[in-house]
Amino acid sequence: MSLTVTQSSTERTAHSYSGSLYLLPSDDAERQSRLLKQHQLYTRLFSGRLIFPPVSLSSNEEILDIGTGPGAWLCDVRSQLPESTQIYGVDIESRLFPSYKDISANVHLSVCSATSLPRYWSSKFALVHQRLLICAYTRDQWTKVVNEMYRVLAPGGYAQLIEFCPDYVSGPKTASHVLFLEEFFRRKGLLLRCGAHIADMLENAGFVDVTSEDVVMKLGKCAGQDGVAARNATFGAWKGTKDAVMKVGGMGYFATGEDFDKVLDDLAEEWDLVEGSHTLLKVVYGRKP
Ligand SMILES: C[S@@+](CC[C@H](N)C(=O)[O-])C[C@H]1O[C@@H](n2cnc3c(N)ncnc32)[C@H](O)[C@@H]1O
Repeated sequence: MSLTVTQSSTERTAHSYSGSLYLLPSDDAERQSRLLKQHQLYTRLFSGRLIFPPVSLSSNEEILDIGTGPGAWLCDVRSQLPESTQIYGVDIESRLFPSYKDISANVHLSVCSATSLPRYWSSKFALVHQRLLICAYTRDQWTKVVNEMYRVLAPGGYAQLIEFCPDYVSGPKTASHVLFLEEFFRRKGLLLRCGAHIADMLENAGFVDVTSEDVVMKLGKCAGQDGVAARNATFGAWKGTKDAVMKVGGMGYFATGEDFDKVLDDLAEEWDLVEGSHTLLKVVYGRKP
């Protein structure tokens, strides 16, 4: 069986932010072929909801998108809010940012790490959003980021976090890929199961009314167009870790880059063949009292 999801095995372009452990590439393929399509998929899976908490955004409010990347969430939110709303996006890599022609004067993008947001942003935002930083933070960094969210939110403001959970239901190849991911993330010091900890982290930081919602993401051809889109987005993310995995010698799982590609292709094929393959997205939000 031939799959249409195979990507080129040439080296990808990584971020250049000093000290960051972020695993995924920051190149045009990541931006165009994966993140923008993934945003459209997630918007469909969330039935169009971009903002989950019951936050009322009146004129002149300010909101922040952490790890904004191509700014797809931020641009869609902007189209639903008055022009007087000021929308900020931060990321460690400006290469992924939307081009100036796609943003308006009320959008402000800057390069900085979520672990240390500008000091002068205290008690500023009505909403802070962060989506898909699973490949970025150690446990300590997660704590720092959640504390930073608390600091920059105005009283009554909400933090909203959305994460991919590798709680797959599929076949044996998927199960063994999860074992590999657990080992690889442990070695890198990253928190693979961050989704399971976010609610506690929010409460420990002082957030109240913390609410969690799991959204099922079906994977593979059996689940139709969205299943194929979810397969490609998920497979594409794990494929994007190739340079980082091979840099540490393949961890005993992959002798060569070709082995890595083959295992990933087999994973995507398993999702196509095993009906009911799925995993979860976790949406968590909480209010700063
Ligand atoms: C998987 S992408 C998700 C992009 C966007 N949030 C979305 O949902 O489409 C993760 C983004 O987080 C950024 N990132 C990684 N580490 C970061 C950090 N410490 N602070 C801010 N952004 C970071 C990456 O450069 C990348 O753009």
